[in-house]
Amino acid sequence: MYCKRRNENGESEGLSKMRKIDMKYFLLRIIIDVIKIIRRKMINAGSRKKFNASMNDYNANLYWEQRHKQFGNESFLGVGHKGLSEEENFTWYASAKYIFMGILKDAVITKKAKILELGYGNGFYAQVCFKMGIDNYYGVDIVDQHAKGLRKKLPNYSFEKADIGTEKVACKECGVICMIDVSQHIVNDDKLRFCLTENVANNLNSGGVFIVTDQLTNEKKSFYEKTRTVEFYKSALKGFNLEQAPILFRDKYIMSFRKR
Ligand SMILES: C[S@@+](CC[C@H](N)C(=O)[O-])C[C@H]1O[C@@H](n2cnc3c(N)ncnc32)[C@H](O)[C@@H]1O
Repeated sequence: MYCKRRNENGESEGLSKMRKIDMKYFLLRIIIDVIKIIRRKMINAGSRKKFNASMNDYNANLYWEQRHKQFGNESFLGVGHKGLSEEENFTWYASAKYIFMGILKDAVITKKAKILELGYGNGFYAQVCFKMGIDNYYGVDIVDQHAKGLRKKLPNYSFEKADIGTEKVACKECGVICMIDVSQHIVNDDKLRFCLTENVANNLNSGGVFIVTDQLTNEKKSFYEKTRTVEFYKSALKGFNLEQAPILFRDKYIMSFRKR
């Protein structure tokens, strides 16, 4: 008669071997996960040092210059989510484009209205504005990596370099100001308030619309990302009404405020 060999606990030898293998894989997984965490922490510490990150600021100029350089002109990774693939980012941008166009159309702004884009990145939304027939566009970004190419592509549009958290952008009488996927990268609250009052409220015409995105959770996500609530925007944008309540937009929300 066939009889399974058993160990001192009464388990069959096969079962006991499997348990040992499972345990080895389990320990291996823990070791790999710990190595990954340590590696991530070391990379983060290196980045924090490189970009001079403190509790409430970082060298945005250097960070964005390197990021735009790293990913080049045609990639969406520099301006989108660098943890996702090019195709995933492209899909996100494709849907974002229609939501953005819808909000612009709902704002009922004439084609003659002047548009100021704060943090134009690789010019994705500038090109959307151009396709919508908007003539009067002015873009500002902390770096000018993409400016030369964009000036060639869109010769009637203007692309300038400025830190919108510290510098006043002279662009009065705008009908629309948009800030897509940018406000979270101004991690210092005072700098974002400066931008909202000096560069948004002061440049927008009465009846003009400000379009902005945020995750709306009030969290410091990393040294170069901080989210704010709707209340933060409301308190900084005195004399504005929330027009478009927040709607899902990629991994964030998009909303608009109209100046009274
Ligand atoms: C995540 S990208 C988004 C770009 C573009 N709006 C889009 O949605 O594709 C953030 C952009 O904001 C710019 N930026 C970050 N901080 C800035 C600042 N303080 N002043 C002006 N531009 C800034 C960056 O250079 C970058 O182009």
